Order: sequence, then structure tokens, then C-alpha cells
Amino acid sequence: MTEGRKRVTVPSLVRQKSEGRPIVMVTCYDATFARLVDQSEVDIVLVGDSLGMVMQGREHTLEVSVEEVAYHTRCVRRVLRRAHLVADMPFMSYQVSPEQALENAGRLVREGGAEAVKLEGGARVLEAVRRITAAGIPVMGHLGLTPQSVHAFGGFKVQAKDEEAAAELEREALALQEAGCYTLVLEGIPAPLAKRVSAALRIPTIGIGAGVGCDGQVLVIQDLLGLDDGFKPKFVKRFAELAGTVREALNDYAREVRERSFPGDENSFGLGKGGTGSDAGSGSDSGSGSGSGGYGPA
Ligand code: KIV
Repeated sequence: MTEGRKRVTVPSLVRQKSEGRPIVMVTCYDATFARLVDQSEVDIVLVGDSLGMVMQGREHTLEVSVEEVAYHTRCVRRVLRRAHLVADMPFMSYQVSPEQALENAGRLVREGGAEAVKLEGGARVLEAVRRITAAGIPVMGHLGLTPQSVHAFGGFKVQAKDEEAAAELEREALALQEAGCYTLVLEGIPAPLAKRVSAALRIPTIGIGAGVGCDGQVLVIQDLLGLDDGFKPKFVKRFAELAGTVREALNDYAREVRERSFPGDENSFGLGKGGTGSDAGSGSDSGSGSGSGGYGPA
């Protein structure tokens, strides 16, 4: 389904802004979802450090390691053919020194197969951005409600609400652009500010909880698919309600196991040649079958 469709690249993303075509980004942490994302109209896959919350069940992103982001990036990389792949730099993987930042960005590219990295912050990360981009690694910036500063903010709260803080954020956005960022995430800031910053920059902005005036939008894939129906912050729109669908499927499975209607003959194997049931497996390479034993996908 991705054949014949053009790969999304750094230059093509920058072109999208100049042509007024909104950029669509989602987070993704595994091969199953990555395959679906790649077959969709989404432009960018972000292996976010939000994996700490979504995949690991933590309360924040602060405990995620470079190894964990590299692992999930590799899982996504194996199946991605078209969409642009960005890996998040976790907390304390770039704050110590520009050298540390470059080394860890390099790991996410070499070990994870990322095409770009993302890091949080303004003035304090400019030198790191310069060092990483000088090595040929594209950097996505991230300003506003930067989750790695959750303790400094006293919680996940909308940022830059007064004019002084707004002007500071705009200055930092311009500085990140000058330092070499090719895109900038704006998270949890007033919509008029995000619109103003987007108009002031050459590089595309990608918003989350920042209104419609950005050059693109990003959401966590589990949030937009409604996979956690206990989580519904204002900035999220659910484009599906899959939590109920998944629970229903699991309950159907449980019922059929208990009433012994699953597995049926169509899911069972016979004895030797000519035995009852399917010998299964068509040699398809499209899934998780174990190959030569005829136990693969039908
Ligand atoms: O980690 C993440 O998922 C993010 C996005 C939501 C921007 O940083």
C-alpha cells in the first residue's frame, strides 16, 4: 500500500509549509501500528518519550532511557517505508553537554534508524542543536509545555499565558530556527501565540494543544484511536473509540473458549495428509507466522 508513494523527507516537510499543506504527525512505538501508519496519509512518525507513559505505564516521561527509545525506534524502523521517522531524546540524554547530546543523537540514528531527533527546550539547548545538526542529523525542537520539565512547571499545565512569557517563547523559537532546527513542536500554549510563532518562522511548527494556527499537528496514537477511554484531555480528539472494540473482541474470544466454539475445524490441523482440518499457512511473508512448518498466516 506504500508502493509508488513518495517518501517524506526533511526537504519535503519544509516544502509542505511553503505550499501551505499541513503536516500530520503521530507517535508510534511498535511495528504493528507503524505498518498501519505507513499505509495511511500520516507524514511523520515520532517515537516519543511518551512511551514511558503509554507503553510502560509511568506517570511521566522522566525515566525513559536512550536504550528504550532506540529499541522502540528500531521496532518502527523495520516496517516503515514512506513516513519520516523521528526519535525523541530522553531526559538527561542531551542536557549534560553538547558532546553528550551529539553522542546520544548519533545512537538514535545508528542503533534506532531514526532520520531525525527531537529535544525539548529553548536557550539552554541551542549549543546542543548546533552540534547535532553540524554532524548532519536533523533536529526537531520542542517548546511550551515540555513534559521533561513537568516538575518545574508543577504539573502538565498550559505555558506562556502572559505576554512576557509569550515574547520569550517567540524569541526561543527564532533562536532554535537559527541554530538549525528543521521543525518545531509547540505544545500546550495559547492558540494565538502558536499562530504568531508559526507565521514568524520559516520552518514548520507542529502543534499539540496549540490550536489550528500551526503548520501541522501531532497526537499520541493511542489517544486519537481512543484506546484509553479513561484519558480525555481537552487537546485530544478521539477519531475512533477502539477501547470498547478491543474489550468486546476479548470478551467474544473468552466466551467462545469457554463454550468450546473456538477453535473450530477451520482453525485446527488434521493428522498427516488428508486428515481433517486445514494444513494452514500459504507461505505468505506478511505476518508473524513461523514459516516452513505450514503454521503461518492463512
Ligand atoms: O513524547 C511525545 O510523544 C511528544 C509529542 C506528543 C510531541 O513529545
